[in-house]
Amino acid sequence: MKDTLILAIESSCDETAASVVKNGRTILSNVISSQIALHTLYGGVVPEIASRKHIEKINQVIKEALKEAGVTLDDLDAIGVTYGPGLVGALLVGVAEAKAIAYAKKLPLVGVHHIEGHVSANYIEHPDLEPPFLCLIVSGGHTHLVIVKDYGEFEILGRTRDDAAGEAFDKVARAIGLGYPGGPKVDKLAREGNPDAIVFPKGKLGDCPYDFSFSGVKSAVLNYINNAQMKGEEINRADLAASFQKSVVDVLVEHTMLAAKDYHMDKIAIAGGVASNGALREAMTRACEKRGYKFYRPSPIFCTDNAAMIGVAAYYEYIKGTRHGWDLNAVPNLKL
Ligand code: KG4
Ligand code: ZN
Repeated sequence: MKDTLILAIESSCDETAASVVKNGRTILSNVISSQIALHTLYGGVVPEIASRKHIEKINQVIKEALKEAGVTLDDLDAIGVTYGPGLVGALLVGVAEAKAIAYAKKLPLVGVHHIEGHVSANYIEHPDLEPPFLCLIVSGGHTHLVIVKDYGEFEILGRTRDDAAGEAFDKVARAIGLGYPGGPKVDKLAREGNPDAIVFPKGKLGDCPYDFSFSGVKSAVLNYINNAQMKGEEINRADLAASFQKSVVDVLVEHTMLAAKDYHMDKIAIAGGVASNGALREAMTRACEKRGYKFYRPSPIFCTDNAAMIGVAAYYEYIKGTRHGWDLNAVPNLKL
């Protein structure tokens, strides 16, 4: 059978990325141009700067992805692109580029939900993984616990009521002076700290056992810092990072294990930027081993934003018959 080659484009936030994916599971190239250095100056992503940088980089990133894969635009079967959720100006750059290539080369256009992309990152390195499975999605903008019923088909069991897990990491990082991007810096510093040094609240919600809330732990960290400053006490930042991280990771793991038990799921996956967190990966591995569940997680490079995951999701949408027209628009708050 002829191979299906998809060029995928991702520009929803601060990474300009392109990838060529063969038959949905083989990554022929994965090029990511990160804008982190640029946004670090401002302590977070500046949407206008992100859009401009995407425009500057996108053609070069696509050329590199095609070259690395050893293919030309004439070899492609479809163009996949993230059309939401994300920053509207940033998304528009990728969507306009994808439409232009698809139109010029008379190729099908497949719009992809960014979060469906994150979940699909799990298929890259796990050829045996197929739906149904339970997936914890933890990124900068989302925290969802879902059953992946089929490719691109989700039943949402729980979600965050306030901050996303990644957002909590970023805010705590800023409060202890680690700067942007916060998650990886908290992860690194926490390795030197004692996770049991400070007890932070765990954000349990009585009415829906699968929902999350991280604003309480974030406020508790800020109060802890303020109190210490008022008393003139030195803060052990490594202990604080480790203790905060533990309270978040414990809740993520507990809710996931509860859902697995209640819904009789024995295949558990994690996805999104926070899925690259060392403590979360270790805690999930242990929890799944203890219960005899199979645990899947993408390599860290496929957890944070990339176009390979968009190419994988685009492939499964493509074979289902999903096609978008030239009126495809960026949808900043696209629902799962
Ligand atoms: O999935 P992602 O790259 O972008 C979104 O779709 O949001 O996730 C980015 C988020 C940021 O909040 C970042 O701080 C967090 O993921 N993150 C981490 C780690 N690496 C990235 N959080 C904790 N530990 C990490 N190692
Ligand atoms: Zn993302």
